[in-house]
Amino acid sequence: MDLSVEIAGLRLRNPVLAAAGTFGYGVEFEDIVEIARLGGIVTKGLSCEPRSGNAGLRLFETSAGMLNSIGVQNMGIPAFLETRLPRLRRLGVLVIVNVYGESVEEYVRAVEMLNEGEGIAAYEINASCPNTRAGGELFASDPAPLAQLTAAVKAVTRRPIWIKLSPNVTRIGELARAAEAAGADALSLVNTFLGMAIDVHTRRPRFANRIAGLSGPAIKPLAVRLVYEAHQAVGLPIIGLGGIASGEDAVEFLLAGASAIQVGTANFWDPKATESVLRGLEKFCRQRGIPAVRLLTGALENAPPGESEPPV
Ligand SMILES: Cc1cc2nc3c(=O)[nH]c(=O)nc-3n(C[C@H](O)[C@H](O)[C@H](O)COP(=O)(O)O)c2cc1C
Repeated sequence: MDLSVEIAGLRLRNPVLAAAGTFGYGVEFEDIVEIARLGGIVTKGLSCEPRSGNAGLRLFETSAGMLNSIGVQNMGIPAFLETRLPRLRRLGVLVIVNVYGESVEEYVRAVEMLNEGEGIAAYEINASCPNTRAGGELFASDPAPLAQLTAAVKAVTRRPIWIKLSPNVTRIGELARAAEAAGADALSLVNTFLGMAIDVHTRRPRFANRIAGLSGPAIKPLAVRLVYEAHQAVGLPIIGLGGIASGEDAVEFLLAGASAIQVGTANFWDPKATESVLRGLEKFCRQRGIPAVRLLTGALENAPPGESEPPV
């Protein structure tokens, strides 16, 4: 069975990647997961300078989900290039670097700095961080700044650009089209949903920023819908994510139109979740005689349930 997929000229051995911010810089999972077997890993969001992240509580579990307010804590691009990238190269996995900035100029500078690093397959531009004022609200919901950012990083990049979109929008198609028109090579969706938790005893918001990002199984149906709508709107390959924890979850995203998927929050309760999603996906295809996983992308039956027999 052929598990390989292609994303904007990049061949992945399978469509299962680890999601940004939930898999460290990759090397932390070296002894836990057979990283070379994955389709790829996406690093924690990296910025030009190190960032210490947000004050106060950073993670809070909810029913079927998790709120986070990390604030893009990271070691900065120079330290990553020097200490982590050489180790990642030895692991033999496709490395996608998640990029964060607070202005177009900062994203451009970040990409220029990363261009110097050997062994990076693509950049995933986090244009949708819910936990920082600048990089979040500015690009997440307005097609014009999103297009400006996309065009600016595209102008300097040596590598494919995946634009990671926010789910906190009314019309995802407009943002997807704006990124496509500005030169994006692929789209990743979704980032976390804006959420909030309150401690009823103290009557205070749990997070210093008040608003945090919701992820995990709770958001899966919302994310599948957004991937579906984005796939209807653009011809770009889509990397789908949001609550994926099993092979069948992954299949849902592929049928909705994704060409590859990422596993995020599931890594927090099962550090081997990427491997089990991959095994589950493989089993799903094998049991149904599906010769190539890429045949699942967008292969949604249009008839509503009950009107026709689904394929077995
Ligand atoms: C603790 C945490 C940190 C995250 N950090 C980043 C990040 O640095 N850059 C980014 O683009 N997305 C980040 N995300 C978002 C995830 O990559 C993913 O888009 C989101 O959590 C939805 O997928 P999931 O439900 O499988 O976790 C983070 C998510 C979590 C839970």
